[in-house]
Amino acid sequence: MSLTITPLVAPLGAEVTGIDLREVLDKETADRIYAAWLDHIVLVFRDQELSKDEQLAFARHFGSVGDRATPKDLQNEVANGYDGRIMLVTNQRDEKGNYIGSLQDGEMWFHHDMSYTPAPHKATLLHALELPSEGGNTKFANMYMAYENVPDALRENLRGRRVLQAYNRSMLERVDPEQGLDDIAHQWQPIFVKHPETGRISLYVSHLISAWIEGLARDESEAILEQLVVVAEDPSLVHEHIWNDGDLVMWDNRCSTHARTDFPPEQSRLLRRCTIEGGPMIAAA
Ligand code: OGA
Ligand code: MN
Repeated sequence: MSLTITPLVAPLGAEVTGIDLREVLDKETADRIYAAWLDHIVLVFRDQELSKDEQLAFARHFGSVGDRATPKDLQNEVANGYDGRIMLVTNQRDEKGNYIGSLQDGEMWFHHDMSYTPAPHKATLLHALELPSEGGNTKFANMYMAYENVPDALRENLRGRRVLQAYNRSMLERVDPEQGLDDIAHQWQPIFVKHPETGRISLYVSHLISAWIEGLARDESEAILEQLVVVAEDPSLVHEHIWNDGDLVMWDNRCSTHARTDFPPEQSRLLRRCTIEGGPMIAAA
């Protein structure tokens, strides 16, 4: 088996073949994968079959595995014996009818994972274990390209400004910041961020999480956010991943957003997720 990295015919993403992720990687292999991930933003590994611990061990090649933002006492996964690092992205329920995981059903709008925290995790790794017969695809959008596509005048106008990123635990609707933020995880972040490793600049705005642009009246902020979201979700910078059992996808939250398409609620969907710690977002100069 030899490690091969094949860029997707898409605005981001590459497929990695010739590797069994259950094995401990030598440094050269881990370095090649990490470099490809920085280049391509999203890596797809197919036909993998990882236990929870194997998934965590693979992630650990690239940094420290992160604790979830959700308090442990609110995690369905912890109630099911996990330790606060693993998320089960699933609509499955236990015999009492309680959800065993998170992000259960339905469409999810584009977002950056953990943008509402002071130090968002840099990577998310999602491993498909059980899938519906249709839908539940994950779309990825290239935020380097989105930054380039922001109209010049708007980019100048927003230079140096921050945006409130606010998270409603349902992950299904936007927060209304005028209703108060007492029980809502939130963080002011630069609108344009510099990637700490590639040095490239990205748009750090999303439909689901971005709630208010600093220093603007709410209606003006809403109008500009809408304009930015149109740029950020332009089909020319989006790739839709159609999952197969055994896929493991690893994405960079500093320069991409992702979204989920709807799927039949009566069908089971289960993916196992972990993340890798990152640092505070860096404002573009
Ligand atoms: C996530 C997420 C999308 C999906 O795990 O962060 O947004 O397709 N998942 O379930
Ligand atoms: Mn997500």
